[in-house]
Amino acid sequence: MSKIILITGVSKGLGHAMAKGFAREGHTVVGCGRNPEALEKLSEALGAPHRFDSVDVSNDQEVAQWIQNVTNNVGVPDLVLNNAAIINHNAPLWEIDSDEFDRVIDINIKGVQNVIRHIVPPMIRKGSGVIVNFSSGWGRSTSPEVAPYCATKWAIEGLTRALAQELPTGLAAIPLNPGVINTDMLQSCFGAGASQFETAEIWAAKAIPFLIELGPKDNGKSLTAP
Ligand SMILES: NC(=O)c1ccc[n+]([C@@H]2O[C@H](COP(=O)([O-])OP(=O)(O)OC[C@H]3O[C@@H](n4cnc5c(N)ncnc54)[C@H](OP(=O)(O)O)[C@@H]3O)[C@@H](O)[C@H]2O)c1
Repeated sequence: MSKIILITGVSKGLGHAMAKGFAREGHTVVGCGRNPEALEKLSEALGAPHRFDSVDVSNDQEVAQWIQNVTNNVGVPDLVLNNAAIINHNAPLWEIDSDEFDRVIDINIKGVQNVIRHIVPPMIRKGSGVIVNFSSGWGRSTSPEVAPYCATKWAIEGLTRALAQELPTGLAAIPLNPGVINTDMLQSCFGAGASQFETAEIWAAKAIPFLIELGPKDNGKSLTAP
């Protein structure tokens, strides 16, 4: 059955690979990112009924407008993938300036809540839907030099599991560790070592059948992608 899939952060990396993969499987994909050129290219490649909008998830007004447009013109999503995130440049916590720390918190935590605040009421009215919040291995363990990022992903685990306890029957919220994949984000923290990991396209080919099967039975479980 064809579903409506909403994905944040589709301009590159896992979000981009998932957008292409879900569209190929016959689902309708709505996505956002901050890079208008990349979104334009994706729109040209996938065409209607898919839609990709320039939205910064840390900007609540932009998110509100986007979700209203999506629910009015495409429909209420069956699956929401809160994938957009950034990582701090590698450095000990005391060397991260307040602007960079703010950006990581604003996008990785507040951005997820912005989407949830606007998308959950129509999902409740519809009576079904799954929200997957992208966590990380660093949402369940830690490493040096990525403390701001770790803080946000541990927050995602807590936020999502509490949300799961609030949602009515029929809906689900799931924190997902995607694994380790060779994207720009991994290259930022692993450097050249990132190249030994799988590509986003190979990851997405395994993740998509797993994601599409998630449902109320998975509500509140901290999961890891295959
Ligand atoms: N790669 C890994 O090994 C790995 C491991 C564990 C967890 N994760 C998680 O998996 C998710 C995807 O990571 P990735 O590796 O694909 O990262 P990536 O390659 O850096 O891609 C991140 C995506 O998020 C978008 N984005 C960033 N800030 C945004 C904002 N304010 N508003 C809207 N979109 C925004 C980026 O697009 P724009 O720059 O155009 O906005 C981009 O499309 C993240 O949540 C990450 O924490 C990844």
